[in-house]
Amino acid sequence: MLKPILCLPVLLLAGAPALYQQAQPAPQTPQKSASPSPAQPAPIPAEYVNMTNPVKPTAESLARAKQIYSWDCALCHADNGSGKGDVAVEQKLALVDFRDPAALKPWTDGQLFYIIRNGRGKMPAEDGRAKENEVWNLIIYLRSMSKGHEGAATPAT
Ligand code: HEC
Repeated sequence: MLKPILCLPVLLLAGAPALYQQAQPAPQTPQKSASPSPAQPAPIPAEYVNMTNPVKPTAESLARAKQIYSWDCALCHADNGSGKGDVAVEQKLALVDFRDPAALKPWTDGQLFYIIRNGRGKMPAEDGRAKENEVWNLIIYLRSMSKGHEGAATPAT
């Protein structure tokens, strides 16, 4: 009788997605506010505050972060992080200057992760375009912009 043997892979296949989903954190739904306005973006869920950046940057991972930044972020935030990208100027978006060390200070890495993934106000969500570890590297890259070496992040050794 072949039947029981044939059933096994089917069961495994059927079970796998469920197991995978259990391992994932619950999807975050931004809190609804009574009067949503772009000037007051939804608050960042508290569980993001203490998340630590899990990646150890390498020259390659930071080069990749720089590439993602130039494709997905520079149109608004500008290649050098000044916040004066073409779209930002055109739409008169008031963006912080990533070269200013004070600019990203109010945010923890976890909060930045949330902002980049989910968007904020007029900023679109990066969502699934960059992988999780790419977003964490992107944050290291952003923070490196204020170190005075424009566009050149130094990997931790
Ligand atoms: C369409 C323009 C646009 C693009 C593209 C964009 N952003 Fe933004 N970004 C904004 C705006 C507008 C804000 C201010 C949001 C607010 O607080 O209302 C912002 C805010 C931020 C902040 C928070 C800083 C602060 O205090 O305001 C970070 C970090 C950030 N963006 C990173 C990124 C990264 C990384 C990318 C690329 C993956 C990106 N942004 C792409 C427009 C953009």
